[in-house]
Amino acid sequence: MADHDLTALMAAQLDRHLVFPLLEFLQERQLYSRPEILEAKIRLLSGTNMVDYAMDIHKSLHGTDDVPEDMVKRRSEVVSRLRSLDEAAAPLVAFLQNPQLVQELRPDKQYNIHMLQERYQIGPDQIEALYQYAKFQFECGNYSWAAEYLYQYRALCTDTERSVSALWGKLAAEILMQNWDVALEEFNRLKEIIDSKNFSSPLNQLQNRIWLMHWALFIFFNHENGRNGIIDLFFQDRYLNAIQTNAHHLLRYLATAVVVNKRRRNMLKELIKVIQQEQHSYKDPITEFLQCLYVNYDFDGAQQKLVECEQVILNDPFLGKRVEEGNFVTVPLRAEFLENARLFIFETYCRIHRCIDISMLAQRLNMSYDEAELWIMNLVRSSKLDARIDSVSGTLIMTTNHINVHEQIIESMKGLNMRTYMLAKNIVEPAQQAAR
Ligand SMILES: *[C@@H]1O[C@H](CO)[C@@H](O)[C@H](O)[C@H]1NC(C)=O
Ligand SMILES: *[C@@H]1O[C@H](CO)[C@@H](O)[C@H](O)[C@H]1NC(C)=O
Ligand SMILES: *[C@@H]1O[C@H](CO)[C@@H](O)[C@H](O)[C@H]1NC(C)=O
Repeated sequence: MADHDLTALMAAQLDRHLVFPLLEFLQERQLYSRPEILEAKIRLLSGTNMVDYAMDIHKSLHGTDDVPEDMVKRRSEVVSRLRSLDEAAAPLVAFLQNPQLVQELRPDKQYNIHMLQERYQIGPDQIEALYQYAKFQFECGNYSWAAEYLYQYRALCTDTERSVSALWGKLAAEILMQNWDVALEEFNRLKEIIDSKNFSSPLNQLQNRIWLMHWALFIFFNHENGRNGIIDLFFQDRYLNAIQTNAHHLLRYLATAVVVNKRRRNMLKELIKVIQQEQHSYKDPITEFLQCLYVNYDFDGAQQKLVECEQVILNDPFLGKRVEEGNFVTVPLRAEFLENARLFIFETYCRIHRCIDISMLAQRLNMSYDEAELWIMNLVRSSKLDARIDSVSGTLIMTTNHINVHEQIIESMKGLNMRTYMLAKNIVEPAQQAAR
């Protein structure tokens, strides 16, 4: 099951803290053994200030109350460093926490810096301390505090590189707090900076774009407009280049987003092109499914891949998000993906064949005959196709034979077809049964 797990590749492009939600997901899915996941968490935590959390995991992993010496030592280091940073940042923090004093700030960075220095003897050292403190708090897992003070810091910071670094921190903190609207704003801010002409070297710019795409996946698969967002971003030349240069695995997310996004069907062709170009660098059941269907017209292959796609989605931390609906826990994206994928199979099939045996189609769609028939009826009714069902021979007959069945809709004919179909269903079939 872990065959198609991208976590290791993803983690290399994420902040450590952003990897935790992925590990939590993998743990819940039991894709790896519990000790493996807990070890990974401890390794991850060793690079943060979340020592108490690491200790808890260590205890639970080894079934003991003892913790290793280095964790104890690290804990006291963290506590004392936090104390000294707290002291260093105190004057500026006190200022920022006082609503009356904050009113003295204006939307003018130079003025503010000057004013703080003149009236409150708060200079570059205190401003720097605020950054260090906020960063340290982030490492402690105090994301709300970090977000607040990284924001304040940016308003006073004159060093471009530092300001960008603070923005990355703010973005991560908002993601971790699941503030998707704010995270989206910060993402846009960061993107604008990264895309600006004077941003660092081209190589650095490329790396920043790759990071940005990875981080943004959290937003794209949680924010209500994210499914358009990912398509808009990933298909931009510069970002698509970045994917094709050094982040091929992102094609899984782009492909999924295109499949489930009915309004962006027009991107399918471009997507298939990229998938084909990159097939030697990256493939998974999702990209293979599209390739089977649209490059090789291999329906059996596509059908097989679809079964694997379902597993990939269920086991992917971004795609397999669980949602409670009443007493059920569902994965909405899974259902949407399968529905759309079946539609793709069906449409492609209909493009090549004029007359389709429903039981054959049922098999292709992995449905029972009745299910398939109902499904087709719904399709016809919802104006997707010009087709009629001949229930005597159990076939679906395409009444137009155009390349794009979608474009050929004749409303009146369809109503008529439906009635004819129902008539046949109610009269012809009982008659046949009686004859038998
Ligand atoms: C975050 O840090 C601030 C300042 O030290 C503290 O007052 C607050 O309790 C911390 N919050 C959490 C959740 O640890
Ligand atoms: C790029 O130029 C803009 C406008 O001149 C400036 O505001 C920004 O700080 C610059 N960015 C970098 C990274 O130097
Ligand atoms: C067909 O669907 C059933 C459940 O509805 C599933 O168990 C089976 O694996 C599927 N088989 C194929 C070939 O799609």
